[in-house]
Amino acid sequence: MPSSDPVRVGLIGSGWITEQHLAAFEAAPETVAVALADYPRDRGGRPGRGEAVAAQAGLTRYYPDYRRLLEQDDVELVTVALPNALHAEVTLAALEAGKHVVVEKPLCLRLEDADRIVALAEQKGLTVGYAEELCFCPKFVRAKELVDAGGLGRVFFLEQTEIHEGPYSDWFFDPTLAGGGALMDMGCHAIEYARWMFGKARVEAVTARIDTFVHGHRGPLDDFCLVHLDFEGGMKALLQAGWTQKGGMTSSARILGPEGVLKVDLLQTTGLEIYSTGGVPTADVYPGWQRPGYAWLWENGYPQEMSAFARAVRAGTQPSESAADGRAVLEIMWAAYASAAEGRTVRLPYTPPEGLTSPVQVWLQREAR
Ligand SMILES: NC(=O)c1ccc[n+]([C@@H]2O[C@H](COP(=O)([O-])OP(=O)(O)OC[C@H]3O[C@@H](n4cnc5c(N)ncnc54)[C@H](O)[C@@H]3O)[C@@H](O)[C@H]2O)c1
Repeated sequence: MPSSDPVRVGLIGSGWITEQHLAAFEAAPETVAVALADYPRDRGGRPGRGEAVAAQAGLTRYYPDYRRLLEQDDVELVTVALPNALHAEVTLAALEAGKHVVVEKPLCLRLEDADRIVALAEQKGLTVGYAEELCFCPKFVRAKELVDAGGLGRVFFLEQTEIHEGPYSDWFFDPTLAGGGALMDMGCHAIEYARWMFGKARVEAVTARIDTFVHGHRGPLDDFCLVHLDFEGGMKALLQAGWTQKGGMTSSARILGPEGVLKVDLLQTTGLEIYSTGGVPTADVYPGWQRPGYAWLWENGYPQEMSAFARAVRAGTQPSESAADGRAVLEIMWAAYASAAEGRTVRLPYTPPEGLTSPVQVWLQREAR
């Protein structure tokens, strides 16, 4: 296929993020969506909205079982947008079938699976994009340019917050399907933000405090965390992530250097504000004072990340956010749960205890230890 053709995409999943992916592929000139599939029900998949989502997007091909999608010769790249516990199986199957992959965050649950994904992509010469869109948000990209250009001097501290009132689907509260709570869902964004802003410097140590404050009635998972990272070179990051903030989401950072400070707020300072007693449910605007996005998809970096992944596919390279980055984030999350469970700083590399299959198990078993 000539290298100037748009990359032909098959989407796996039909939930909230798949709808953003479809809009992103529509907006990104380097890509074209051609088919959509779900995880098969006979293997534990839940009834999705796949057929309707595909039709709405004008796709004529819908497969209730993603394995049929992987047999389609014209599909070059697939997205994996399913509950976290299914990422490894589907990503590895896609790579085995010769497809490039975009995996939603978190990459997967077990470090062994992350290693297998990285190794298989390398062995097959395939691209794996790790869908951390914060690294593609124009406001954050601009902030990084200013930091990299030396505006603050040699940066030494970063704090980042990723918090909203909690997820929309039940599986996020299921330890088996999610593998962790707010740390896995929101903390993974904050961790990769810090790694990216500090030029992917190695994380040497992790110290975390993790709690369940608001959503305990829905299950045992964590809904609030503070994670401190010590980076090689001495830089520090303090990350706050949660499902515990009413009234809209915060995604923001403050970065310190000897010559200055940079503050960046992705969602709360667009210059557009609305007070509405009932909110605007069709536009995700809550009651009360809100600051809605004016170009939400673009502001949140979704088309830009898909363009970058497609360019990496055509160039035969790994993208700037790759499976190796997802693996690094996963190791930090395992270490964070262990740190909170054991009340100590955990140095990397971290090796999970034998027999555990998801990061949060270390923390859920804390009282038994
Ligand atoms: N990058 C981001 O900003 C972002 C935002 C939201 C979600 N995500 C990630 O995307 C992935 C999918 O999240 P989502 O928001 O689309 O979720 P969702 O609940 O809206 O959709 C889940 C999808 O998985 C399917 N599924 C298969 N087996 C299932 C099962 N046993 N239980 C429940 N659903 C099952 C559903 O049919 C549906 O297609 C997750 O890994 C999540 O962490 C990323």
